Amino acid sequence: MKSIAVLTGGGDCPGLNAVIRAVYKTAHSNGIKVYGVKNGFKGLVEDDLSLLGSENVSGILPRGGTMLGTTNRDNPFRYQCIDRGELVYKDMSQRILFNLKKRDIEALIVIGGDGTLKIASEIAELGFPVVGVPKSIDNDLPKTERTFGFDTAVSIATEALDRLHTTAESHHRVMVLEVMGRYAGWIALHSGIAGGADCIIIPEIPFKWDSITDKIKLRQQKGTMFSIIVVAEGAKPINGEISVARLVNNCPETIRLGGIGDKVAHELENLLGVECRSTVLGHLQRGGSPTAYDRILSTRYGEAAVNAIINKKFKTMVALQNNEIVPVNLIDVVGTPYLVPATHDLIKTGRSLGISFGD
Ligand code: F6P
Repeated sequence: MKSIAVLTGGGDCPGLNAVIRAVYKTAHSNGIKVYGVKNGFKGLVEDDLSLLGSENVSGILPRGGTMLGTTNRDNPFRYQCIDRGELVYKDMSQRILFNLKKRDIEALIVIGGDGTLKIASEIAELGFPVVGVPKSIDNDLPKTERTFGFDTAVSIATEALDRLHTTAESHHRVMVLEVMGRYAGWIALHSGIAGGADCIIIPEIPFKWDSITDKIKLRQQKGTMFSIIVVAEGAKPINGEISVARLVNNCPETIRLGGIGDKVAHELENLLGVECRSTVLGHLQRGGSPTAYDRILSTRYGEAAVNAIINKKFKTMVALQNNEIVPVNLIDVVGTPYLVPATHDLIKTGRSLGISFGD
C-alpha cells in the first residue's frame, strides 16, 4: 500500500481534525502517503485532492471543524449539474474512481455519519477499497458504542443546563433547552442526566403535556418554583399536535414559533401560567474544540482506520465495542439510525431519580 485518501463528509463535528491527524501520522509511520480530499465527495468528483504533509496536521488536534472542508450535499451517485441551463442529476461514480486511480490511490477513508457512510458503502460496492469512521454529535450509528463528537456536544449542553439553572432559580421560571440529535434523543438524555434536568423529552418517547405539567406542579407544591426541561429537536407530543390556541396579530401563535423548544415553552406558559423561556443551543454543540474523550476516541479511530487498510479489512467501519476498536461491516451501519431504547439504563436511572420523560 503506497497511497490512500481521506475525506470528511456531512455536517462538521468536533474531532474531525483529530481523526485526520491520526490517519496522517499512522500512515506516515507505515510509509503510506495520504491525500486530503477537499469538501467531501465534491472534491473527489472535481479532482480537488492534495498530498498532506506534517505541516498540514501540525496543531490541528484541538481544533474544531475540518481542515479539509465538508458539504452536506454532493452525492456522487446523484451529482447536481447544470446541463444546457437545466438542473440535472448525474452519476459521477466512475469519475471519482478515475480521479483516485490516476494518482495510484489504493484505498479511501471516509469520515462521516449515516448519509456519508451510505455513499461510502456504495463506492465500496463498486470494488474500491473503503474504510469508514463514525462521526456524529448525535451518536446515532449502530454497531458502535460511540460516535466521536457526541461527548463534546453533551458537555456543551450540560454546561448550558448549569447556566440555565441559576437564572431559572433566580426568576422562578421554567427553562426549556432544545438540543440537537436529529431523530435520536442521545444528547438530550445524557445532558439531561448530567445537568440535573427535571424533564427529558426525547423523540423515542412521545410526550404528553399533562406529564410535563404534573412534574412542574409537583415541584411547585414542594416549594421549588423553577424547573428545567431538556427537549431533543426531534421530539413530538403523543398526539402529534401542539395546540397553541392564542392568536398573535390574528395569526395562530404556532406560525411565529420556531422549533420544538419554543413550542414547549409557549404551551407550558399557556397551560401553567408561569413564565417560561426557551434556548435553542443549535450549532454551538458542533463548533469548537473537542473534549479530551473525543480527542482520544478520534485518534483511536484514525489509527484503526489506517490499520484496517493495511490489514485489507475493506468495506468496514471502525467501531467502539467493549472499549476496543474493531472493524464492523459498513453495510450494517447505514440506513437505520440507532435510537435510544425505551429500556436504556440511563432512562431507568432517570426514572428512579424522579425525572419525567413526559410519558
Ligand atoms: O447530524 C448532526 C446535526 O447537527 C443534527 O443534530 C442536526 O439535526 C443537523 O445536523 C443540523 O444540520 P445543519 O447544520 O445542516 O442544519
